[in-house]
Amino acid sequence: GSCFFLSCFAGYFNVLAVILKTTNDAPWANEFESIELSCLIESISTKNPRIEWKKIKDGEPSYVYFEKKISGDLEGRARIREPATLVITNATRSDSASYRCEVSAQTDLKSFDEILINLVIRVKPVVPKCAVPKSVPVGTAAELRCVEDQGFPKSQYQWFRNKEEIPDDPKTSSKFINSSYTLNAETGTLKFSAVRMNDSAEYFCRAKNDAGHSECGPQTMEIYDINIARIILGVLVVVLLCITVGLCFAYKRGYFASQKQTGNNYKAPAKGEGVDYVRTEDEGDFRHKSSFVI
Ligand SMILES: *[C@@H]1O[C@H](CO)[C@@H](O)[C@H](O)[C@H]1NC(C)=O
Ligand SMILES: *[C@@H]1O[C@H](CO)[C@@H](O)[C@H](O)[C@H]1NC(C)=O
Ligand SMILES: *[C@@H]1O[C@H](CO)[C@@H](O)[C@H](O)[C@H]1NC(C)=O
Repeated sequence: GSCFFLSCFAGYFNVLAVILKTTNDAPWANEFESIELSCLIESISTKNPRIEWKKIKDGEPSYVYFEKKISGDLEGRARIREPATLVITNATRSDSASYRCEVSAQTDLKSFDEILINLVIRVKPVVPKCAVPKSVPVGTAAELRCVEDQGFPKSQYQWFRNKEEIPDDPKTSSKFINSSYTLNAETGTLKFSAVRMNDSAEYFCRAKNDAGHSECGPQTMEIYDINIARIILGVLVVVLLCITVGLCFAYKRGYFASQKQTGNNYKAPAKGEGVDYVRTEDEGDFRHKSSFVI
């Protein structure tokens, strides 16, 4: 031949080699949809290569395609499309993992290749649990919480005040500029360091991720003025005092005397002889008493 040894070897090597490729090494789908993990054979000369798929979750590999059969987690929910693509027909949240397509071609010089694919199954958030304090004295701190733990990727949170989204930073909005809150979109906490009367409103929270969003029902947070509360309390005390004094006065003047009298008059005949047995409902008691009377 007229070629140098190295270039000849390289050409020979390329022909007799198994080489894999994929159209997407980071596919995603929503839960209950179908998704394909593409594994294409770019070059091979072996007629019946051995194809295997492994799922790697938390560093632990397990077979999902072995000896031409779908097994393990994917049994009954997946199939192989020629040459080596894995098609999951009804993805679940537990399918989020790394998958490795491995092809062994015994008669090729480079007889093995593998390709790693990271699959993400997105899960729409469920309705978040929201905690809104019902009434808060003006000028004190208040914390509104929102939690949702099903969504994948992890939910982010938005808060709404009277159906209007609360901006992440109050300084960016003329409407909220005097409000004392900080909003944490990662944890879902809306924290006021000192509430104003103006913060009285209906609040609700939305948990969202790439798969969708869910909201909790609106809840009212009422802000009350401590001074007004004191005035109301003072008025109540005065009213109660007046009533008490009035009652004492009326008692001393004997307004209750006649009422007491009628009470006694009414009860008197009930205690009289020969009346008791009529009122007794129990039969045994009745007989006993009647015989006693006779
Ligand atoms: C997908 O799986 C879920 C349970 O994992 C089941 O409720 C649903 O009916 C399945 N959907 C299809 C189209 O098979
Ligand atoms: C607070 O009150 C002022 C004046 O009463 C009003 O202009 C402003 O819009 C209120 N803030 C919010 C967040 O509603
Ligand atoms: C915010 O506070 C400033 C200064 O006290 C006041 O001039 C302004 O009207 C307030 N804005 C709102 C929206 O309440």
